[in-house]
Amino acid sequence: MKNLAETGRDPSEPAEPQVSIQSFTPEWQDSTIDCIAEVRRAQYNDPTGFVKPIYKEGIAKNFQRFPYEDFFIALDQEGQQVVGNIGLRFVKEEEDKTRIGQLRRFNVRPTFEGKGIGSRLLNRSLDFAKENNYREIYLTTECDKEHERARGMYEGQGFKRVASEEMSPDDLNLILTGDVDDNLKNIKEGKTLIYKLKLGAGEPFHEKVE
Ligand SMILES: CC(C)(COP(=O)(O)OP(=O)(O)OC[C@H]1O[C@@H](n2cnc3c(N)ncnc32)[C@H](O)[C@@H]1OP(=O)(O)O)[C@@H](O)C(=O)NCCC(=O)NCCS
Repeated sequence: MKNLAETGRDPSEPAEPQVSIQSFTPEWQDSTIDCIAEVRRAQYNDPTGFVKPIYKEGIAKNFQRFPYEDFFIALDQEGQQVVGNIGLRFVKEEEDKTRIGQLRRFNVRPTFEGKGIGSRLLNRSLDFAKENNYREIYLTTECDKEHERARGMYEGQGFKRVASEEMSPDDLNLILTGDVDDNLKNIKEGKTLIYKLKLGAGEPFHEKVE
């Protein structure tokens, strides 16, 4: 067995969970919906655990379009349930063939938070983006306390805040999803924040850990 000097870890500390990150496959449909609903219940104190119909209709069908879009899940150590997920959405392709994308539905079940799973999911989606010629990745998040952790994470990964006025109306429209009017109103009022990460298209963002 490796000692502390070799691993940098105290063996008396519980080990990090051995979750695995993979591209979504349909057998994980129900467990992914359950994961989204659980986070929703915890984060918004919403007992119904509302999940948008587009997710229920089929994640593979609606969110995986290779090589433009993919949706990643984290499976627990036993390979029994989805404990986290993230999607990369295709927004547009420029004349030089570089792409603009957007991250969506980023979740880790509350009992699995703070163990590095979110970072691994995020890195995996950014790797996919780099491998598929993405130049810029947008995301929107909320300004409230419940999203503090997410904001800290995005800023730690190099995402920068973008004011909606810095974007052309066309580009802004492209990153609005769901209820577009509501989305836009929240952005204008500063309740919803826009972040952007510039990627050098072509090479992986991080070394793959799996
Ligand atoms: C955001 C979320 C996906 C992060 O997942 P996670 O598995 O807990 O993330 P990690 O354990 O990889 O932690 C990532 C980083 O977040 C940052 N972070 C954690 N807690 C933080 C806090 N309270 N404030 C600021 N930054 C924080 C740290 O940089 C941390 O990395 P480090 O502790 O190694 O330095 C998860 O908290 C979640 O599902 N939240 C509810 C849903 C949500 O807000 N989704 C985002 C929608 S935009």
